Amino acid sequence: MTFPQRRPRRLRTTAAIRRLVAESKLDVDDLIAPLFVREGITDPEPIHSLPGVVQHSRGSLRQEVKELRDLGVPAIVLFGVPEQKDAMGSQAWNPDGIVQVALKDLRDDLGDDVVLMADLCVDEYTDHGHCGIVDIYGNVDNDATLELYERAALAQANAGAHVVAPSGMMDGQVLAIREALDDEGHTDTAILAYAAKYASALYGPFRDAVDVSIADGGDRKGYQQDFRNAREALTEIHADIEQGADMVMVKPAMAYLDIIAKARAEVDIPLAAYQVSGEYSMIKAAGANGWIDEDAVSFEHLMAIKRAGADMILTYYSRHIAERLSS
Ligand code: PBG
Repeated sequence: MTFPQRRPRRLRTTAAIRRLVAESKLDVDDLIAPLFVREGITDPEPIHSLPGVVQHSRGSLRQEVKELRDLGVPAIVLFGVPEQKDAMGSQAWNPDGIVQVALKDLRDDLGDDVVLMADLCVDEYTDHGHCGIVDIYGNVDNDATLELYERAALAQANAGAHVVAPSGMMDGQVLAIREALDDEGHTDTAILAYAAKYASALYGPFRDAVDVSIADGGDRKGYQQDFRNAREALTEIHADIEQGADMVMVKPAMAYLDIIAKARAEVDIPLAAYQVSGEYSMIKAAGANGWIDEDAVSFEHLMAIKRAGADMILTYYSRHIAERLSS
C-alpha cells in the first residue's frame, strides 16, 4: 500500500494556515443582541435563569445599546415587559407602551447607527400568556390575532423600528403585517419572520425574562412547530417568503442545525438563527460549574450555527463575542 499523497493535516499545522483555510467566519456584523426592557423600573433587574442578562430600565437600555454600537454590533431585537397585561395584549400597540417608548429613545439617541428590531408578538402583553386571542375553547384564534399583529407592527414602525420580527407563528402573519405597513406608508420597514419556530422547552429562561407563564399549564404546540418535523419547516419558510418576508429565521439553533442547513440550500434571502435562552443558560450553567469552558463552547456553538448556513445569529452572547473579537 502506498502512503496517501493527500494529507489534510498539512493545512492544520499552524494557526495562520488554519485561519487561511477556515471555511466559516464569525464576525461582529453577524450579531443581533436580544434585549429586554421593563416598564416602571429605574435600575436594571437580573434574570435568575439567564445569568448576565437583565431586564433593562429605559435608561440602562439606552446605555447598553450605545455600548453595543461602539463595539460594532449592527442590530438589536427588543422585547418589552409591561406593567399591565390584559386578554388582548393591548400594550403591544399602545404608542406609550414600553417597547414603543424605548424604540423612540433609541432612535433619538442612535438614528440609523444600529438596526432596531422589535419582536412582534403579544405573549409578553397578554394575561394568559398566549401569542394571540384565545377563543372560548381555549384555542388561539389565528385570523382574529392577525389584526392585533397589524396594530403592533404599525405602533413599532411609528416608534422607529427598522425591522419588525413576527414571532407568533400565526398563518398569514407576514402578509397581514406587510399590507398594514404599506398602507400606512411604512414601505421601508423590513420584516424578519420567525418562519421555522419550534415549540421548544429551550424557551424556559426567556419566559422568566418577560414574566410570562402560560395559563392552565398550557403550551404553544397548537401554533409553533412540532420538533419531530423537518420538511414542514421548508413549507413555513417558503410561505413567509411568498408573503413578503425580507429575512427568515430558524429557532432554536443548536438542536436545529439540520433545519438551518436545509433552509440555506433552498433560500437566497438572509437567513437568521436564534440561539435561544435555554441554549445560552445551559452553557452558562455548565461553565459556572467548571464542567466546560464557557468561552470556548459558546464560540464553538456560534461557529457551528454559521457553518450550518446562518447569515446572522440572535444571541445573548452578542456583547461577549463582540468584546472578544475587538480585543
Ligand atoms: C415570543 C418569543 C419567544 C421567544 C422569542 N420570541 C417565546 C415563546 O415563543 O414562547 C424565545 C426566545 C428565547 O428563548 O430566547 N414572543
